[in-house]
Amino acid sequence: MKVAVMGYGTVGSGVVEVIETHSGIIPKKIGGEALEVARILDLRDFPNDPHKDLFTKDFNDILNDPEIKIVAETMGGVNPAFDFTMKLLKSGKSVVTSNKELVAQKGPELLQAAEESGTNYLIEASVGGGIPIIRPLTQCLAANHIEGIAGILNGTTNFILTMMIEKGMSFEDALKIAQEKGYAEKDPTADVEGHDACRKVCILASLAFGKHVYPSQVATEGISNITLEDVSYINSANGVIKLLGQIKYINDDQIAAFVSPAVVYNGSQLASVKDVFNAVLVRGDAVGDVCFYGPGAGKLPTASAVVADIIDCAKHTGRKKIFGWGAGEEDYVVDYKSAIKMPFYVRTKATCNQVNAAFSDVKFLSRKGQPSDEVAFITDIMTENELTERLSSLEVINIIKVTNY
Ligand code: HSE
Repeated sequence: MKVAVMGYGTVGSGVVEVIETHSGIIPKKIGGEALEVARILDLRDFPNDPHKDLFTKDFNDILNDPEIKIVAETMGGVNPAFDFTMKLLKSGKSVVTSNKELVAQKGPELLQAAEESGTNYLIEASVGGGIPIIRPLTQCLAANHIEGIAGILNGTTNFILTMMIEKGMSFEDALKIAQEKGYAEKDPTADVEGHDACRKVCILASLAFGKHVYPSQVATEGISNITLEDVSYINSANGVIKLLGQIKYINDDQIAAFVSPAVVYNGSQLASVKDVFNAVLVRGDAVGDVCFYGPGAGKLPTASAVVADIIDCAKHTGRKKIFGWGAGEEDYVVDYKSAIKMPFYVRTKATCNQVNAAFSDVKFLSRKGQPSDEVAFITDIMTENELTERLSSLEVINIIKVTNY
């Protein structure tokens, strides 16, 4: 069966490599037929690549080839990936993707196009890289009412936080190493400011609760305000700081979804997720907590998920898999600041007496070198709006949510 790959970057070249490396085992999984990469779309030149005869710069070479039945979109970005994917689905080809930005922005339209043309649009690689999470969430956990999801969904930020926690490195130095190692982009904004994790939250929330969630509906805060002082205070409370994507069921018509740094206590399965690894913890009413862990990015791990989707499409040639979710709604995602109660870590320029006057029940923290006019503490559970009110007379240095996962 002929397939095409659009985008020959890290993931796309990994897809070609995995298909070729496993040319012996893949046919056994799809009824004997081999997968053949027939075309690779990329605007760049790869003169020394062994696949040079397969390259094209013209999308129509893939669209108009009736023998190509499945296309892997590993280009990234919304345009032109959206236009290409739409045309392919409408023409009767199935598409698999690692492109979380596209799924988060345009998922409903593309799933609808696949529905109408009887093709498949599969997205396993769009969240958690090589970690199986899309199928487990939609199939293996289908019998559960999902109460919430919490995920370490970005490898770059998890690497930076791990360096800060374990090596006492500053945010800036850790980011520099992440860039040198090729984890972070030259412009690391999407990773560091939480936008990449936000896109993955949109996809998980859409799958878990059945209505599309757009990035603009997810309050998103990155890790650039986290300092070694915060790391140290939270260490004294037996916890670590992680960039978490959190999704919570409110009622059948509303959910909460947000991305932010969060204190995770050391007993949590999420606390031990280090370096560039990702993990997604799903809380179901029947199953309890289940945690999916593994490499959340990288060439071969992400290609592993893309090629699995290709194999699934090949197994379902001419058949539509039941997969997807409905359109989004404006008031579907609530303002978590008034809807969700949790404890908070607060660092202030204040005295303990001033803090005690504002809060009835706090746990004070300490760190080496703590200035006499600085106080850090963990509050009782409350909404963020209530916290803001109580802190109105104090000079706040930093606030971090505390999670119960
Ligand atoms: N830049 C992303 C990360 C890649 O660091 O996790 C995978 O989405």
